[in-house]
Order: sequence, then structure tokens, then C-alpha cells
Amino acid sequence: MPKHTAQHANSQSMTDMIKILVGTMTGTAELVAEEILDTLTDKGAEAELTLMDEVRADTVSESDTLIICTSTYGQGDVPDNAQALLESLQAAKPDLSSVRYGLFALGDMTYAQTFCFGGKRFDEALQSLGAQRVGEIVLHDASSGTLPEDEAADWASDWYDNLAA
Ligand SMILES: Cc1cc2nc3c(=O)[nH]c(=O)nc-3n(C[C@H](O)[C@H](O)[C@H](O)COP(=O)(O)O)c2cc1C
Repeated sequence: MPKHTAQHANSQSMTDMIKILVGTMTGTAELVAEEILDTLTDKGAEAELTLMDEVRADTVSESDTLIICTSTYGQGDVPDNAQALLESLQAAKPDLSSVRYGLFALGDMTYAQTFCFGGKRFDEALQSLGAQRVGEIVLHDASSGTLPEDEAADWASDWYDNLAA
């Protein structure tokens, strides 16, 4: 029992900075990311929120723990501010086998054929480069009547517990 507790505490303290990378067009995913950030820091984690605009593959490969929080636009595309990051991952193909991540995707079932494809594209790219997803991908449906930022805190809390387990 004490040993388990020590390992648990140790694995938490060994989690470096959690980078929350945000792909957004009109700011909803950023609200979600702010909730995630607050939840993680309340739990004692070190975390930071960064809009994806200037982020490229090297930042991802230099991280050990990430959260991708992104909406979907166009015909199942990632938001404009996420395009360059996705393309740089696909072009540079870094080895991400030491990266663990969570994924919170925002979408709308009105676009049934491309529901949450922005998040799914990142999930596919990260998986294909060897990154390990912690927990299930969240697929938030804006037409469901629930606000994604209301789901974010509970999700982030569970995700962090999973990460540290
Ligand atoms: C022009 C437009 C296109 C969209 N296309 C999709 C889509 O293909 N698939 C999807 O699941 N959601 C789609 N959405 C819904 C957005 O992803 C959703 O509203 C999201 O919450 C917006 O988050 P943001 O403010 O962070 O960009 C679209 C929304 C707009 C306005």
C-alpha cells in the first residue's frame, strides 16, 4: 500500500509540463482549454495553454504530455490555426513514442459526415507517429445542447488521474 502510494506520487511528480494545444476558429475550444488548464493546475499539475498558430512538430516531439483541444471547420478540416501544425507532423514524421496525449474534439452532428474530423485527424496523425493516447477521445456535439466547457473539467480530472495511474 505505501509502495503503491509512493509510485503514484512519483509518477505524478515525473509528469513534466502538460502542453494544451488549441485549434480554434471562434474561441470555443479555447474556453474548453482554459477549463482544462484550471482543472489540471488545481490538481497540482504544471500545465500551459498555447494556441496552435505558431506550434510545429518539433514542439510536439519535445513534449512528453499533451492535450489537443480542437474544433472542426470546412468539410471536416482542422481550424485554420491548426493547419500548419498538422501538416508539419505529417511532413516531419517525428518519433512520438515517448509522447502521451489526451484529445478533446469539438464538432457538431449537423455535419454528420465529418463529425469531429478535426480532432480525429490529429488523433490519427499522433497515433501513426507512435504517440499513446490516454483515455478515449472526447467527441463533443454542439447540437446536443450541452456546452463543451461544462464537460471539460470532469474530463480533465479523469484524464489526469488516468495519466498518473
Ligand atoms: C462553417 C462551419 C463548418 C463546420 N464544419 C464542421 C464539420 O465539418 N464537422 C463538425 O463536427 N463540426 C463542424 N463545425 C462545428 C464546429 O466545429 C463547432 O461549432 C465548434 O464548437 C466550434 O469551435 P471553435 O469556436 O473553437 O472553432 C462547423 C462550424 C462552422 C461554423
